Amino acid sequence: MHGIILRELKKYVEATLGKPAWTELLEAAGFAGKVYLPVSEYPDAELFALVGHASAKSGVPADELLQGFGEFIVPDLVQIYRSSIAPAWATLDLLEHTEKVIHHAVRMRDSTASPPKLAVVRSDPRSVEITYSSERKLCAVAKGIVRGVAHHYGERVEIVEATCMHQGAPVCLIQVTKLG
Ligand code: HEM
Repeated sequence: MHGIILRELKKYVEATLGKPAWTELLEAAGFAGKVYLPVSEYPDAELFALVGHASAKSGVPADELLQGFGEFIVPDLVQIYRSSIAPAWATLDLLEHTEKVIHHAVRMRDSTASPPKLAVVRSDPRSVEITYSSERKLCAVAKGIVRGVAHHYGERVEIVEATCMHQGAPVCLIQVTKLG
């Protein structure tokens, strides 16, 4: 997992669970004193261990924490990768171009980065269907990011996860419809 994501997790934990919580989580997960650099890749297991301890500490289910985290990281992701985001886009356009433009740019900028391969179809002018199949099974983060993107553009969306890998499906199918 990319250091940018782990640094964002630190920011999210401090914002939601309080400043000392991150140090406590690092200790609980066995990574005391660890500093995540935005230019490095880290084992996925570290993110999962930190989220597991954050969930145990806060009593908030991991799925809910991950959705909140996805929503939280959007403003910073949009800022860092602003050169890959066309000014004319709104929510559905950004989602439609995430794989071919934005995640592509992430891979070009850093060959060790491994954002998920998303298959995105603009099913009609008001909807997109996102097929998510990463072995990390972070569809909760994906749904949170969708919510964060809609918030960024001041739009309202309905998100339906029609199939989910956590329920045994081969892929997660996330349907997003613009409301209003
Ligand atoms: C501004 C737009 C976006 C940017 C700049 C961005 C960038 C990134 C980056 C840097 C990573 C970390 C890659 C790694 O760990 O090596 C990542 C991971 C991820 N991205 Fe995106 N992303 C964007 C939009 C989206 C959207 C719209 C979705 C889904 C709807 C999405 C889903 C995910 C997920 C779920 C991960 C976690 C890794 C995984 O599941 O395998 N991203 N993204």
